Amino acid sequence: MAHLQFDGCDAVALATEYGTPLYVVSERMIRDRLREIRKDFLDRYPNTGALYASKALQTLDICRIVASEGIGLDVVSGGELFAAAKAGFPMDKIYFHGNSKTESEIRMAVEYGVGRVVVDNLHELAILDGAARTLNRRVKILFRVTPGVDTHTHEFMSTGKLDSKFGIPLDPRVRDEYVGAALGMEGVELLGFHFHVGSQLLSNESHLKAISIICKLMVEVRDAYGMTTRELNLGGGYGIHYQDDEQTRPLSYFVDAMMANLGTACSAAGVAMPRVVIEPGRWVVGEAGITLYTIGSRKVIPDVRTYVGVDGGLPDNPRPALYGAVYEATVADRDDGPRNEVVTVAGKCCETGDILIRDIALQSPMPGDILAVFTTGAYNHSMASNYNRLARPAMVLTNAGKHRLSVRRETFEDLVAREL
Ligand code: LLP
Repeated sequence: MAHLQFDGCDAVALATEYGTPLYVVSERMIRDRLREIRKDFLDRYPNTGALYASKALQTLDICRIVASEGIGLDVVSGGELFAAAKAGFPMDKIYFHGNSKTESEIRMAVEYGVGRVVVDNLHELAILDGAARTLNRRVKILFRVTPGVDTHTHEFMSTGKLDSKFGIPLDPRVRDEYVGAALGMEGVELLGFHFHVGSQLLSNESHLKAISIICKLMVEVRDAYGMTTRELNLGGGYGIHYQDDEQTRPLSYFVDAMMANLGTACSAAGVAMPRVVIEPGRWVVGEAGITLYTIGSRKVIPDVRTYVGVDGGLPDNPRPALYGAVYEATVADRDDGPRNEVVTVAGKCCETGDILIRDIALQSPMPGDILAVFTTGAYNHSMASNYNRLARPAMVLTNAGKHRLSVRRETFEDLVAREL
């Protein structure tokens, strides 16, 4: 029977060499997506920029790969910023986001000289202005706004609604307070606006609604303040294939429609087309990752269900428990075998909700087999925890048949290393 091949590598051999659970991430597939961004967005449209939203998956290697393809980085914390700096990421290509940045993170962003700070609230704006003036800097900022569009995605992944902890509501009273304040500050230079409507969106409908709302905003700030919007950041959110009914769209499906609508709206309103920036995360790395587990126990409850236990679960992939996310998988030892048994894949946590995949048809998984779960490149490693003191998996990077260890497996000593 044929073993699963992933990016030219034998998945069972990877599990034997590096152990399980194991994140396997294809550098080649990530580079392909980054190159699609260059070809179908940056090269196609003048005056544009692209960032990779590193919350989806951030390691030093990933930062280096993104930098080498000439794409910028979205970071949301001092930790992500620190790691990017450690990887040698060019600071002027970093956008610093976050709805509750701390004073020390704001100072850090100014000291590091990040390209943009995406400002979420007035509290942050005042601290940023002060920090910039102390260091004799003028920091380029965008305001994150909530365009008030609802999305067809899990509630926890919808971020552009009016009632959201993110961003500045587009109520004129609020808008005036923010724009007025920023335009009077010496430490900041307001270039424009940012929105992110939500994540795992399979249609461009919400993005397009947000575009028309943001165009109105550009006109309003021009009329009220004589402000030219020089930059617009359209966020990320492009959905990918996890299960049958979900189709990964090419980048052009999202960006072409957005650029066309933006262009039309700008010329109708007589405002100049601003520089446009996008920042997808999941779309870049999601399908480039799989997770390998070793199958342990099988528990048959007659007439009810067969549970198959694996050596990981919720701590390495919290998405099924958090969002009801559904994953596809295969028994890597018999990838081409008949899927003749419906089982439920259980994680090893002391938690009833730690079910990785419910009722999936697999190739009769037996103890010792390797289970490969697909599409785990985004929001798995980056959201991993140590619940039940499980050590976090290693990560291997593949590249067209080659492979190397990129992140070593956590040890039990690591688990107690911070304890005094
Ligand atoms: N830009 C901003 C400001 C964001 O908040 C996000 C995601 C992105 C870009 C990238 O979105 P993407 O292209 O990856 O959809 N943990 C959840 C996803 C949360 C996304 C939060 N913000 C999950 O596992 O599905």
